[in-house]
Amino acid sequence: MDNIELLKNIEFAARLIREGKLVAFPTETVYGLGANAFNPYAVARIFEIKERPSFDPLIVHIADLAQLKLLVSRIDERTMKLAHKFWPGPLTIVLPKSEKVPDIVSSGLPTVGIRMPDHRIALELIRRAGCPIAAPSANKFGHISPTTADHVRKQLPEVDYILDGGKTDIGIESTVIRLTEYGFQILRYGAITQEEIEEIIPMDPTTHIDKISAPGMMKSHYSPRKMFLVASDHSIAIDKSKAGLISFTGNMEEGFRKVIKVSDRCDLRDYAVNMYEAMHRFEDDNDIEVIIAEPVAEVGIGRAIMDRLRKAEFSWKQKR
Ligand code: TXA
Ligand code: MG
Repeated sequence: MDNIELLKNIEFAARLIREGKLVAFPTETVYGLGANAFNPYAVARIFEIKERPSFDPLIVHIADLAQLKLLVSRIDERTMKLAHKFWPGPLTIVLPKSEKVPDIVSSGLPTVGIRMPDHRIALELIRRAGCPIAAPSANKFGHISPTTADHVRKQLPEVDYILDGGKTDIGIESTVIRLTEYGFQILRYGAITQEEIEEIIPMDPTTHIDKISAPGMMKSHYSPRKMFLVASDHSIAIDKSKAGLISFTGNMEEGFRKVIKVSDRCDLRDYAVNMYEAMHRFEDDNDIEVIIAEPVAEVGIGRAIMDRLRKAEFSWKQKR
């Protein structure tokens, strides 16, 4: 697609947002299902189309710091430090919300999650729409997050428009944090690692995070329809001839019906980029009855990867 056509599409999408419609758009992490964050009716339709429970709040996407000021009631120095370091980028900061933010966006919480996406289409869309855009990942609730426009089309045919920006760069969602008296707490593991944030501000050593203020910690969030297991080589007692392996090291591929290798160079970032795509492919593949994912060490982005894999496994076990 040439630039002029892309700009035309972005302008069209921005008009729809202004009119209170829903637009799916690419970010650097996954595709979002967006609406004008100040329009509660438009936001209500996000919950409807996604079949998302109303207690799970949305992230608001901004294009500049002026929009941040509209959305929150208090900005401290730490927020500014984090913004300068990580925005635009995959860090969502939960902050005290201003009165302008409709309660439906924050699910009635006094806080709002905000991030500035590092994606030129997303930023241009927000600028042209002239408002911050509330957007969850553009999948049905409990399903796999979309990393391509096709994934969105398949899951949410009702959406008013999909801005196609190709496959997303990072492939795993943003890290969600909140600030406390003592530092930051991670409410959802994601693309920015704990170690990176610790270079800017300390981590709050308090371990307790209550469920209400951290809906993203719910154990089952990603739930594949097929049997899904995180397994190391020796722990597999399944019929491999019907199983698809999401392979990382290449060390456990033998005997599987199909293998999707997520990295040629054993780089965890490749795992994040290709993980959801692999899940989508095996879900849609009639030869595959069981999906097995190779685990990785829980350091850096490995924490976010293992978080998603365990959630997928957990929800499959719940369904049995
Ligand atoms: O990368 C991403 O974060 C993508 C792209 C589209 O930006 N968005 C995304 O949104 O993953 P969603 O709705 O699928 O996940 C947002 C997470 C949820 O787990 C939600 O509970 C948490 O962020 N969250 C949002 N606002 C919050 C708040 N005020 N307090 C606590 N958690 C919040
Ligand atoms: Mg999601």
